Parts: sequence; C-alpha cells; structure tokens
Amino acid sequence: MKALEGVRILDFTHVQSGPTCTQLLAWFGADVIKVERPGVGDATHNQLVDVPGADSLYFTMLNHNKRSIELNSKNETGKQVLTRLVEECDVLVENFAPGALDRMGFGWEAIQKINPRMIMASVKGFGPGKYEDCKVYENVAQCAGGAASTTGFVDGPPLVTGAQIGDSGTGLNLALGIVTALFQREKTGRGQKVLAAMQAGVLNLCRVKLRDQQRLSAGPLTEYSQHGEGIPFGEAVPRAGNDSGGGQPGRILKCKGWETDPDAYTYFITQAAAWPKICDLIGKPEWKEDPGYATPPARLDKLNEIFGEIEKWTMTKGKFEVMDLCNPLDIPVGPILSMKEIAEDEGLRATGTIVEVDHPTRGKYLTVGNPIKLSDSPSEVTRSPLLGEHTEEVLRDVLGYSDEEIHRIAASGAVGELQKAAE
Ligand code: COA
Repeated sequence: MKALEGVRILDFTHVQSGPTCTQLLAWFGADVIKVERPGVGDATHNQLVDVPGADSLYFTMLNHNKRSIELNSKNETGKQVLTRLVEECDVLVENFAPGALDRMGFGWEAIQKINPRMIMASVKGFGPGKYEDCKVYENVAQCAGGAASTTGFVDGPPLVTGAQIGDSGTGLNLALGIVTALFQREKTGRGQKVLAAMQAGVLNLCRVKLRDQQRLSAGPLTEYSQHGEGIPFGEAVPRAGNDSGGGQPGRILKCKGWETDPDAYTYFITQAAAWPKICDLIGKPEWKEDPGYATPPARLDKLNEIFGEIEKWTMTKGKFEVMDLCNPLDIPVGPILSMKEIAEDEGLRATGTIVEVDHPTRGKYLTVGNPIKLSDSPSEVTRSPLLGEHTEEVLRDVLGYSDEEIHRIAASGAVGELQKAAE
C-alpha cells in the first residue's frame, strides 16, 4: 500500500514545474492521469531530443509513474470526457499560462459545480498583482524572485543557478499544498484552490538575502568577503560569490589537480567550534591564541588571508582526501561533485536517489528517484508513458465507457488514434 493510494490526479501539467509535482504524487502512490493534446502532447516530448524518434530525457525524467491520455479539451466530445474526468478525480493540477483553463471552460467555478470535492492546484509565474498575466519560465522566476541579483561575484553580472528552484522548487510547494488540501478535505468534505507562484517560491528559498537586506540598514554585512576587502556596500544586498549565507564563513577552495580538473574543489567552512582543529590541520597553530585570529569577529576582516592559507593546504590534497581528513575532526567540508561523479555514485543508486529506467523506444537511462523516503510507502520509478498510451484504458476502466462509446468518442476527434493506444 502506498501513502496516496486511492487519490486520482487529473494532470494537466506540462514542461517542468507542474510535472515535477504530479510525478512526486505518483511516487507516493497517486493515480496520475496526464491529459495531452492529441498528436502533440507536452512540448517536452520533442525538446532536446538525443535519440531520434524517442521521447526526450526532458519528458521521460519528469513524467514517470503516470498514465497518458490524449484528449482535445476544446472539442465538444472532449469537453464531455473531461467533465467525466473531473467527476472521477480528486485533484486537478495545471500550469497553463494564466487564463487558459478559463478559456477551455474549466475555471474554478465550473470545476466546483462539477465536483465540489475537487482540489484545483495551479503553478503560475506570479501571484495576483500587476504581473499575474505573464508567462514565466525558470530563469524569469529566478530573476524575479531575488535569486539572480544575489548570485554571482560582486564585480560580475547577476547569475542564474543550475538548480531549477523556480520550476522543480515550485512543484514541491504545489505538492505540499495539494496533500495539505487533501488533509483538510477529510474534515470539511470540500475541495479548494491551491496556488504556488514561482516568484514566491524562489523568494522563499532566498529568505536569508531578505534578512541581509534589512541588516544592511544597520551597517555593513561584516561576514561578506567584500567587507574584508574594503569594498563599500550599496543600497541592495550584493552578490556574495561563494560566501556562505549563514554566520559561519565558507569558501570554495582549490584542491590537488584543479589546473586540469574543473571540479577539483572543495567547500570549506570555518565553523567557530572547529577553529582550533583547522589551525592545527593547516599548520597554523599560532592562530588559536592570537587575538587577531582567535575569535570569529576578529577573523572577519582577514577572511581572504585565512582562506588563502587553508587553500594552500587543500591544494596539496584531493577533494575526497580533504573530506576524509576533515570529517573525523568535525570540520564541515564538501567536495564539488560533477554530474559525471554523481551519475556514477554507487551510494546514490543504492538509496534510489538515482535510478536506471528502461524505456521501449529509447532504452536505458538514468533519472532521479524520489528524494523523500517514506518507511511505509516505498517509491518505485516506472517509465514515463508514451503519448496517449492509456487513452482507451482510462476511458474504459476509470470512466466506464463501453466499446461503442469509445469508438464514438474516437470518431469525434476528441482523442488520438485508438489502435496506437491498444498496441
Ligand atoms: N487540448 C486542447 N488544447 C490544449 C490542451 C488540450 N489537451 N492542452 C493545452 N491546450 C491549449 C491551452 O488551452 C492553451 O490554449 P489557449 O492559449 O488558446 O487558451 C494552449 O494549449 C497553450 O497553453 P500555454 O500554457 O499558454 O502554453 P505555452 O507553451 O504558450 O506557455 C508556459 C508555456 C510555461 C510559459 C505557460 O504555460 C506558463 O506561463 N505557465 C505557468 C508558469 C509555469 O508553470 N512556468 C514554468 C513552466 S516549466
């Protein structure tokens, strides 16, 4: 038995943000029925194609454990089928551009009339306000949510991060909103609307920068490297390079082999409690007692010198050697792992964090598994569906249509070719 067994999701999501949410719900056991436009489907089927004729990794890695039904929601018969799906499902999830669902005739009021228990969950770029009608992709959200202005080096342009905090991050928020609404429905019997705005999601992850914005009015941010370098602060929180966002100074430092290996680096944190051990480790025992170095406030304006000395030591060691030497001493460090190293990591495979999946048209590939582990609801990753693979199955088994009705629906053009689904 899976945690969300018995929960049926009408999945109107596409691209990344919405699909990450419904994939997570599917991993927890929900029956996720992905509705796709006949013959077209989610745009990611054909984006960044690496195996000609097969669904792209972009699509497969976001749509595991789901069923796919082709359905034209703008066709009259298609609307009737969609109405039946709204009756039979618990949650409708969508991340269309603002207004698209209303234009289809399935806005919140219409949904409530059909099924008052339905939870309608949406990802939008912005919440209500002047930008609510805008279409938004990942990097727009990173910029509008405050992440880009605070990422990068102080003398360089704003930077976006490779972590998809706008899309996958917001998908997580939406999933939590959905299960919370399902929990409330147990008591009220009513559905509700769930909104996760990407700008809000990114900002939520950048809260330490909003903290620093307010601290700025009380004086310079002394833990930022630029303070030690004598660079004055402006009116807004600056980019902080690889400085840590907390009260424990940290930097990315070179390790042995950095000249040829772009990932031969380690993150190194000078946590106050570990300071004496760091001094001994790098051959600077005199810093333990020296009043200019012994306390965290005394070290703030010398961080460049201090990390310079630590780096002289890390450059003599491999990044994993640094970890092996520092961990027993409780000095927090982290090797910079490349995607190649992560893909080959046996430990991540053993825990199901990275999974190998077989696919009928593209063969074997790697994907991420469920990052959240429940002891009583294990997640197995099953391959993504082919476009419309389950159309007939859903029409028959979920909606109870007879063979005759299914052929009438197919003849109306509301769904894709049935024989493809039946193969
Ligand atoms: N049958 C018939 N029509 C369908 C359909 C179906 N099964 N599924 C979708 N469509 C239609 C929609 O009704 C819409 O038509 P309309 O504009 O005539 O009303 C159209 O397909 C496309 O929807 P839209 O969402 O506008 O797609 P887009 O490719 O132009 O925009 C985004 C993509 C991601 C920018 C936009 O959807 C968006 O801003 N979403 C919200 C924020 C978000 O999630 N962004 C991150 C994505 S990773």
